[in-house]
Amino acid sequence: MIILGIESSCDETGVALVKTEGSGLPVLLADALHSQIEMHQAFGGVVPELASRDHIRRVLPLTKQVLDKSGLNLGDIDVVAYTKGPGLAGALLVGSGVACALGAALGKPVLGVHHLEGHLLSPFLSADPPEFPFVALLVSGGHTQLMRVDGVGKYEILGESVDDAAGEAFDKSAKLMGLPYPGGPGLAKLAVGGNEKAFKLPRPLLHSGDLNFSFAGLKTAVLVQIKKLVEQEGVPVEQFSPALMADIAASTQAAIVDVLVRKSGTALLQTGLKRLVVAGGVGANQRLRQQLNAVCALNGVRVHYPELALCTDNGAMIAMAAAMRLQSGQQTANTDYAFDVKPRWPLDSLTA
Ligand code: KG4
Ligand code: ZN
Repeated sequence: MIILGIESSCDETGVALVKTEGSGLPVLLADALHSQIEMHQAFGGVVPELASRDHIRRVLPLTKQVLDKSGLNLGDIDVVAYTKGPGLAGALLVGSGVACALGAALGKPVLGVHHLEGHLLSPFLSADPPEFPFVALLVSGGHTQLMRVDGVGKYEILGESVDDAAGEAFDKSAKLMGLPYPGGPGLAKLAVGGNEKAFKLPRPLLHSGDLNFSFAGLKTAVLVQIKKLVEQEGVPVEQFSPALMADIAASTQAAIVDVLVRKSGTALLQTGLKRLVVAGGVGANQRLRQQLNAVCALNGVRVHYPELALCTDNGAMIAMAAAMRLQSGQQTANTDYAFDVKPRWPLDSLTA
């Protein structure tokens, strides 16, 4: 079966083709992406209306690209999958509308996919795919969650952020440092040469005993630290030396990563599981990967990541999640083309 996946929940238009054969793991045939980051940078963040309009411009050319790359035609597609939520309503409507129109025109069924389920299952596309059950650390721009995953659709939330997500903590701290949106990758790059002990920043809820996170206070601490330094140095943050910027970045990154690593360890201990899956944009962070690898190696835990290119939003994970849902019998694709979108949609409301 050939599944076309369309992602348009935020600032990336992603389209991909995945093939399933029997009950074997689905295979990625082709994948194309357009990132709107440059367009939104001028505004310091995502402008929803511009995002929707750009998705409209990109989605069909990207669909043609994946068909060309894989040597397939529209008629070869068996199911059209799309991101139904969560995300920006207008952006979601573009992908959903195009997917349902395409399905109706081709006479093929469609399937709405949960964006976070896409992230969660994206490591199954890697060269080292996991096996169920596992603990998942889902760290995206909008969500930070620890989950027990027993199979497709069997998700139990063990803990989550009570305020900002880890990605937001990266992005907001980076913005305070004058870095362009989205600041996470830029802050991580700067941190490489920095001293992570240079500034003492809080590790919120580190010892709370539960598996929840809170990153809003960290952003405030970074702001206070930068204000202090502006006074000390007598220059605005834009004129800080590269060494000072690297130290702020390294200290901030260490505070976020420490909490993520400690809580993931606790989740593994509490569940007794020996497998950890990391997914979402922050999963691309090298410091997080190094620390998790070290802790997991010490405790005999196997850890799995998506391929680096599939950590952030993409169409492959949407096609993959649809394929795995269909294979597991969790869901059937349908020919009711009266689509709706779910801008807010808790992952654990998906039924097993
Ligand atoms: O999963 P994703 O693409 O989008 C959402 O579904 O939210 O995640 C985007 C987030 C952004 O906050 C971005 O700054 C962060 O992932 N991110 C990183 C890195 N690469 C992306 N954060 C830290 N280090 C990175 N290398
Ligand atoms: Zn995402």
